[in-house]
Amino acid sequence: MQQVKLGIIGLGGMGSLHANSIAGLRNCRLTAVCDINADQVKKFAGEPELAGFTSCDDFFQAADIEAVVIATPHYSHPVLTEKAFACGKHVLTEKPIAVHKADAESMIAAAAKHPELKFAAMFNQRTIPAHRKIKQLIDDGALGEIRRINWIITDWFRTEIYYASGDWRATWRGEGGGVLLNQCPHQLDLLQWFFGVPDRIRACAAFGKYHKIEVEDEVSAFLEYSNGATGIFIASTGESPGTNRLEIAAERGRLVYENGRIEFKRNEIPVAEFSAATDQRFGRPECWNIEIPAANTNPTQHRDIIEDFANAILNDTEVMVPASEGINSLEIGNAMLLSALKDKTVAMPLDSAEFAAELKKLADNSKFEKKNLTVDGADEDFSTSF
Ligand SMILES: NC(=O)c1ccc[n+]([C@@H]2O[C@H](COP(=O)([O-])OP(=O)(O)OC[C@H]3O[C@@H](n4cnc5c(N)ncnc54)[C@H](O)[C@@H]3O)[C@@H](O)[C@H]2O)c1
Repeated sequence: MQQVKLGIIGLGGMGSLHANSIAGLRNCRLTAVCDINADQVKKFAGEPELAGFTSCDDFFQAADIEAVVIATPHYSHPVLTEKAFACGKHVLTEKPIAVHKADAESMIAAAAKHPELKFAAMFNQRTIPAHRKIKQLIDDGALGEIRRINWIITDWFRTEIYYASGDWRATWRGEGGGVLLNQCPHQLDLLQWFFGVPDRIRACAAFGKYHKIEVEDEVSAFLEYSNGATGIFIASTGESPGTNRLEIAAERGRLVYENGRIEFKRNEIPVAEFSAATDQRFGRPECWNIEIPAANTNPTQHRDIIEDFANAILNDTEVMVPASEGINSLEIGNAMLLSALKDKTVAMPLDSAEFAAELKKLADNSKFEKKNLTVDGADEDFSTSF
């Protein structure tokens, strides 16, 4: 079988996991790795036919690779993506594709200059059967017109030692955000995949409320969509056990996705139609309880995205998750942060320059010092983090 020669740049928690995933795939093989930390590269020493690099420029110039998986801290995704394209390599970048919308715009412009190169994003949660089923129900019109969304995603609990496990984490300068940028990009991507980008966003955020960090670890946002639908999005890394509950109120009924189950209370007659036609003052549409079977996890979610990326290269087909769609979750997350910082409602499209300037101010004015930096957590099971 034909195999794509892949390289990984960034060999921390996620990059190491991707190396394992690639080892289990038949349509690609790992031929080079790169990390600015030589100790991380040494972990791969002795692997046959695998070249190790500590310089990104050497890696892109000299490595025998057709494509790269970028698994470095977010701020470096745009610059590494653009270097990769300039060297003729296909790119699969980790989420979030960038820290802010302006950088995502540059990446998309760079990709547009290389239509022959694939550009994919690691939004692995799109492979989860329950998420695919919800998307299908919405797209098929099974829910009817959507009126209200409520997503409480507070089960991304993180400890102090997690935040101390990397100097870049949870700082304005090193990471550029908190729960909206590190943990929630998955739900923000699903939110835009399911419902599109809202027209307006109003949010409140708390910075370092639960942890010794300077970025946001709690956010509550109110969303307004062009069809009049409204939404609430609540995220936190400070609660345990926390909740992951998505409720969609629609003309055809109410869907709740929680505890791994999709429950749909289906109205036989759409709400507005019933309301307009009935002669009962306190009547309601007849409603059926439907449990929709779909697994709420996918143990090979990251591997599936890599396999799809390699297939797209081999067969010149579309990737499952085009990285250009990664700008939407950034637009929503950036708008939430901007709204909270400026205490104002943010209208879409987000002014990317305004947000980038705001973020730069936060980084420039940061007096935050990271204390008690810890080990890389090499003996911990990284897969429990997602
Ligand atoms: N898709 C998912 O489920 C998922 C889960 C966790 C992390 N991530 C993403 O993966 C990325 C990395 O996160 P992590 O938890 O693995 O971080 P990490 O700190 O464990 O690893 C990052 C690695 O990148 C290296 N590095 C930093 N800058 C570099 C550069 N310019 N060139 C080469 N190497 C460089 C560091 O030395 C480190 O080894 C982040 O963007 C994060 O959002 C995705």
